[in-house]
Amino acid sequence: GDQFPFYGTTQAGVTTPAQDRLFFATFDVTASATRDDLIELLQDWSYAASRLTQGLDVSERGAVGGSPLLPPDDTGDALGLPASGLTITFGVGPSLFQDANGNDRFGIADRKPAALADLPAFAFDLLSPSMTGGDLCIQACADDPQVAVHAVRNLSRIAFGRAQIRWSQLGFGRTSSTSSAQQTPRNLFGFKDGTANVMSEEKDALAKHIYVDSTSDQGWMNGGTYLVARKILMTIESWDRARLEEQENIIGRDKGEGAPLSGGSEFTEPNFEAVHSAGGPAIPVDSHVRLAHPKLNDGIRLLRRGYNYVDGNNDLGQLNAGLFFISFQNDPEHFVRIQKNLKMDTLNEYIRHVGSAVFAIPPGTSPGGYVGEGLFA
Ligand code: HEM
Repeated sequence: GDQFPFYGTTQAGVTTPAQDRLFFATFDVTASATRDDLIELLQDWSYAASRLTQGLDVSERGAVGGSPLLPPDDTGDALGLPASGLTITFGVGPSLFQDANGNDRFGIADRKPAALADLPAFAFDLLSPSMTGGDLCIQACADDPQVAVHAVRNLSRIAFGRAQIRWSQLGFGRTSSTSSAQQTPRNLFGFKDGTANVMSEEKDALAKHIYVDSTSDQGWMNGGTYLVARKILMTIESWDRARLEEQENIIGRDKGEGAPLSGGSEFTEPNFEAVHSAGGPAIPVDSHVRLAHPKLNDGIRLLRRGYNYVDGNNDLGQLNAGLFFISFQNDPEHFVRIQKNLKMDTLNEYIRHVGSAVFAIPPGTSPGGYVGEGLFA
């Protein structure tokens, strides 16, 4: 299987070709934890992640190499499995810098980037507190769900007494391409998703829209980015009863090819001036693709890296299904700008945002260092 290095100037899991599976978890740092506890946790996490991403146990003793009188260091459920393209991406949330009571628990308030603020409330939000926020996050992506779950399970075990999981989400079937070498996958509405994404080959666009540079207010974020997570419920049973023509008008692209309704093929640039043969715009003014397009959003682009999810079913026999939307951008305000513009989106009839979080994703680190070290330097 694929193997991606943990160490580097930027963290893996952003421009890495999107893997098939996701296990995302947010953590709250324990009330009694000190600044030193937090530093040690981040050090322990980075060391373990550098091993896990090579397909190794969390420590040298691992699952079966330790004393028979002690619980093993590693839980063992990934023994014999390859790295499976595992990437582990760590993030820090606004509440790490200032808790609900306004306290700077770890003496890092002066390191808080101005851009790292809780997201505002949006039209149609139906957020559940049990799927919102968190002091820290781990995004584990892999081509094997067992490998992604093993990683988060062991990292949360390492955190014992220092931080615990607040909420988590399993995802499958990447809903975005992040490399032009990848085929565009489909979301649970059956549409190609990721066509107009920022791809890893677009170096200029990555520098302009995705990565923080040396001009930001916090030097330690140079080479970092921001992650916005939105758990979006999709009422797929209602969608499946909508006419094909309506589905295509809502998205603004055709279902088969993913081509814009103004014509051409999948990667043809949409033409919002094009007129439909029956009159009116070929791409409806309230379609998702038009309202999310850079032309209507000051040229802003996001790197989308979401996954489908199905969390069982409800009492009506409908699936609890949707899109676990993840986007990376060098300012969360860019997400806010687009999400506000989507207020008129006809897609809103079939979706509800039920979970939300925002994290600063620090730059990468090198052997001996740890992700987030710039916060304490
Ligand atoms: C494009 C689906 C939520 C931002 C698209 C496309 C589809 C789609 C099918 C067209 C193909 C592509 O370029 O990827 C969905 C579904 C959503 C959802 C089903 C919810 C369940 C969001 C949210 C945002 C967003 C919350 C950001 C606030 C974008 C952007 C594009 C896009 C920026 C590219 C537009 C362009 O440049 O042409 N989405 N989307 N989407 N979506 Fe979404």
